Amino acid sequence: MSSFYEKLLANNRDWVAESLKTDPEFFGKLTKKSPPLFWIGCADARVPANEIIGAQPGEVFVHRNIANMVVHTDMNMLSVLDYAVNTLKVEHIIICGHYGCGGVKVAMSDQRLGLIDNWIKHIRDVARFHKLELSELKVETERYDRFVELNVHEQVRNLGNTSIIQAAWKNNQKVSIYGWAYTVENGLVKDLDITLSSNDDFKKVFCLD
Ligand code: CO
Repeated sequence: MSSFYEKLLANNRDWVAESLKTDPEFFGKLTKKSPPLFWIGCADARVPANEIIGAQPGEVFVHRNIANMVVHTDMNMLSVLDYAVNTLKVEHIIICGHYGCGGVKVAMSDQRLGLIDNWIKHIRDVARFHKLELSELKVETERYDRFVELNVHEQVRNLGNTSIIQAAWKNNQKVSIYGWAYTVENGLVKDLDITLSSNDDFKKVFCLD
């Protein structure tokens, strides 16, 4: 077996020992914990949900895919969302994009990579919806950063539009959606100020009235 793989198992044992040293009940307590937060983030290895927000095991329910997308027909995402909202009753959902996102970068270009192009197409749609705003940004890095933010906007909107969130709000269930953009270079999060806690917020944020 490779030393890399052996190291993973050794790391696990160290982590267990360290956790128990801090709190002998660390793992016992987890069986009773219900997370208050659901995280939808990018699969990018540099954007780990728990570490960024200082969350411990048991504190955040996580779904990650390429470019933190909320695709209406994605049964994986919908199943995780349904469980988060209707069983765990999370009150907070964060969609966290990140600057320097590879998925968004590919969507900005004409590059074709194969199977993944079908997924990237959803991100290209976001560029199409915001074509005017993006075309006004002549500096490529600025356009790239804004595209990352607009993609989060779009996914917050998609999430608010799901039957699951619509039903929760209709039943006066407390659940808020936040849009974030994370900077890999300094670890800081930017709140994009598109928080949705109701259908009224939805209309206000996306100017639907
Ligand atoms: Co990414």
